[in-house]
Amino acid sequence: MAIQEKIKELMEMREKARLGGGEKRIEAQHKKGKHTARERIDMLLDEGSFEEFDMFVSHRCMDFGLQGQDFLSDGVVTGYGTIDGRLVYVFSQDFTVFGGSLSEMFAAKICKVMDQAMKVGAPLIGINDSGGARIQEGVKSLGGYADIFQRNIMASGVIPQISAIFGPCAGGAVYSPALTDFNIMAKDTSYMFVTGPKVVKTVTGEVVSTEDLGGASVHSSKSGVAHFAVENEEEGLLLIRKLLSYLPQNNLEEPPVSVCDDPIDRLEDSLNEIIPDNPNKPYDVKDVIHHIVDDGEFLEVQRNYAANIVTGYAKFNGIPVGIVANQPMFLAGVLDINASRKAARFVRFCDAFNIPILTLVDVPGFLPGTTQEYGGIIIHGAKLLFAYGEATVPKITVILRKAYGGAYDVMSSKHLRGDLNYAWPGAEIAVMGPKGAIEVLHAKELKTMDNTEERAKFVAEKEEEYKDKFANPYVAAKYGYIDDVIEPRNTRFRIIRALQMLATKKDSNPPKKHSNIPL
Ligand code: HXC
Repeated sequence: MAIQEKIKELMEMREKARLGGGEKRIEAQHKKGKHTARERIDMLLDEGSFEEFDMFVSHRCMDFGLQGQDFLSDGVVTGYGTIDGRLVYVFSQDFTVFGGSLSEMFAAKICKVMDQAMKVGAPLIGINDSGGARIQEGVKSLGGYADIFQRNIMASGVIPQISAIFGPCAGGAVYSPALTDFNIMAKDTSYMFVTGPKVVKTVTGEVVSTEDLGGASVHSSKSGVAHFAVENEEEGLLLIRKLLSYLPQNNLEEPPVSVCDDPIDRLEDSLNEIIPDNPNKPYDVKDVIHHIVDDGEFLEVQRNYAANIVTGYAKFNGIPVGIVANQPMFLAGVLDINASRKAARFVRFCDAFNIPILTLVDVPGFLPGTTQEYGGIIIHGAKLLFAYGEATVPKITVILRKAYGGAYDVMSSKHLRGDLNYAWPGAEIAVMGPKGAIEVLHAKELKTMDNTEERAKFVAEKEEEYKDKFANPYVAAKYGYIDDVIEPRNTRFRIIRALQMLATKKDSNPPKKHSNIPL
């Protein structure tokens, strides 16, 4: 065969591979409002940057009539490309080939890109759209999943791993995305569950729709499995690009610093007025965040889950920072099980990838009650405490208003190796709020007071006394637990100065196999 013919044959094979399961199935995929595996990669990566591996791979299964039923690429498209010029590895499951189900060779292709991503030190992005284990391949398929899981585990904390769920992701298949750092789910077209509605009905009798069991809304608000719920695939893929702009390529690199036009010494007068006079009145901590970060840009992570704590990424003078903030607008910003888990995972990710952490504190304490205690708030709250305590990245804390009780300690306090701990002048740092404190400290006197007027006067007086003594930042500042009390409008500048000063910070933990975080 002349070389020209050989090249023609190559082109034809490529064309065949690009068609995946064929025109009809591609049409069916589009009809469901979904894109094909290759279309998704094209939208995700910089134009023309994709280099594909293993286009000519096909399955090796001889059973169940699969012999001769070959589709080049075998249901998953893998390779590398760039996002904003930075290298990433990608796999994209192709639902048009055997429903994107995972075969031995399919898994081997994914493992190959994972191994390369680890050797080179670049993020891995997985686009999931699959009917799960390829039934005809039996245990080989199950083994293939486990091979991927093992690699997900080894890559955790070494390279960022991002999963997009753009179709079915069920059974044990959910555990690969669950092992990665971020899950993005498309509304209406994606779902994740360990067992589907039919099995649920058989086992528990519960009748539930696919969407209500494992749709994007459920996982982004109720379970916390998804970090982002997006309206459509385009939005999800753009989000991945945005997310990566805050992350380093791997754990040995620093996050990418960008050019910043927003003045570092921009004074934000409105911040001096943002805290209401009444300490029980809420305000939106996201307003504080928007006012202090570069150009008001904040990428919130897990927006609809545990809204009493806000987590997300922003930049200060171009430096990526992870922000954790109590949200007084929701449950008064209290720490509960979900908020503790959400923030702990966020803090650990930042620490693993050298992203400085800014903590904005306004917390009345941990949520009391049997639901929380039976649910293990002790162990879950300890996760956040642990995460902050083991983190060695630069840690800057600003106490905006309340920092009460154990929550004061937990929220990146000086005692947990906080590098710079600031407070606004109205900050109240105490064991508990004035009301609770007076009830405890003066229980005996209060018991003897029948006259409500006399009682109210007594309580008001004692509360004032208590506030003067404890509900201010100066007692903590006196002991050096607060490095400075800062004017709210100058917060941006003080944070940027702190980040600059901490740029070469080095800290470490004692050598060990691994810690035993309270799981
Ligand atoms: C082989 C599969 C398949 C699978 C789908 N297909 N799932 N082939 N193994 N697991 C094929 C179908 O035969 C069909 O082939 C094509 O993919 C599209 O499937 P449809 O059913 O026509 O599509 P749709 O109606 O959209 O339904 C999608 C679906 C359904 C909900 C995913 O296909 C389904 O329920 N599949 C089985 C899911 C499942 O039980 N998987 C095993 C889970 S257990 P043609 O030739 O017609 O195009 C598991 C364990 C993992 O995954 C353990 C890891 C530790």
